[in-house]
Amino acid sequence: MFEDLQAQFDIRDRVAVVAGTNGLPKVVLTHGEGARAEVYLQGAHVTSWVPAGGTEVFFVSRAAHFAPEKAIRGGIPVIFPQFGSDGPLPQHGFARTSPWELASTAESEHGLVCVTLRLADSPATRAQWPHPFTLDLEVRLDAQALTLALRVINHDDDDLPFQAALHTYFAVADITQTTVRGLQGVSYIDALQGNAQFIECAEAISIDREVDRIYLSTPDRLEVADSGHGRTIHIEKTGMPDVVVWNPWIAKAQRMADFGDDEYPGMLCVETGNMGRHDTLAPLAVWEGTTTFSISEA
Ligand code: BG6
Repeated sequence: MFEDLQAQFDIRDRVAVVAGTNGLPKVVLTHGEGARAEVYLQGAHVTSWVPAGGTEVFFVSRAAHFAPEKAIRGGIPVIFPQFGSDGPLPQHGFARTSPWELASTAESEHGLVCVTLRLADSPATRAQWPHPFTLDLEVRLDAQALTLALRVINHDDDDLPFQAALHTYFAVADITQTTVRGLQGVSYIDALQGNAQFIECAEAISIDREVDRIYLSTPDRLEVADSGHGRTIHIEKTGMPDVVVWNPWIAKAQRMADFGDDEYPGMLCVETGNMGRHDTLAPLAVWEGTTTFSISEA
């Protein structure tokens, strides 16, 4: 299997299909200036990004499962077609637990390294969700930025209802020295307060307890100030109105089998997508949401 994928998709010094943890197929992208990213076909799951001259940006739990039909705890799980338990499907939908196909790899004339992964409806998805669709994730690696473009195509004669998100886990040096900026004045649903709705007052949101909120209709530029690492993570998005901020803190960390009890201070999820609503895609229509990450010194 690897030989076929390698023969079709490897690009010398830029894209390699290799065996990842537990032998799962993984695509490694390498930019000419030294940036690197990794994405598993299982879930189209980005597990690593190191910008040129920088250090790892994403958190992956040491207890993460790398196995067919399991979601990887960390990196960027792709959430589709349901966010959380907001519907009849398994938590966060089936995209993150499905095997995706590698659709294309390329290097642009400007040195951008691009990989597209694809999930289409199958007997397994139709058994849970009766809609014909294509879901593409394009991963674009530049020297100092990583872009993920998520695209849904409705192949049905009927409307397709869906939620989609990039459930990004950032590696932070110390959650108590980390803030999220760019959400002041935005309404949010607080899952820890019976889904009551509030307005964010803080210019810089600090996290000193469990947090699980959906911020609605947010600005398209946000920042995670990770002062322990001396860096700011910039998030720029299009077509993805909502943002989830999540850290499990102590008790929930202890309840999660694939997450170390002591790992919560080293991570923060800032997720982008349409989790606050159920969008409807007309027959043959296309939805696209993109998120770009870049880093600056704090
Ligand atoms: C977040 C949800 O998006 O994902 C949280 O808001 C949830 O409620 C978290 O706990 C992790 O979910 P899971 O299914 O990966 O454990």
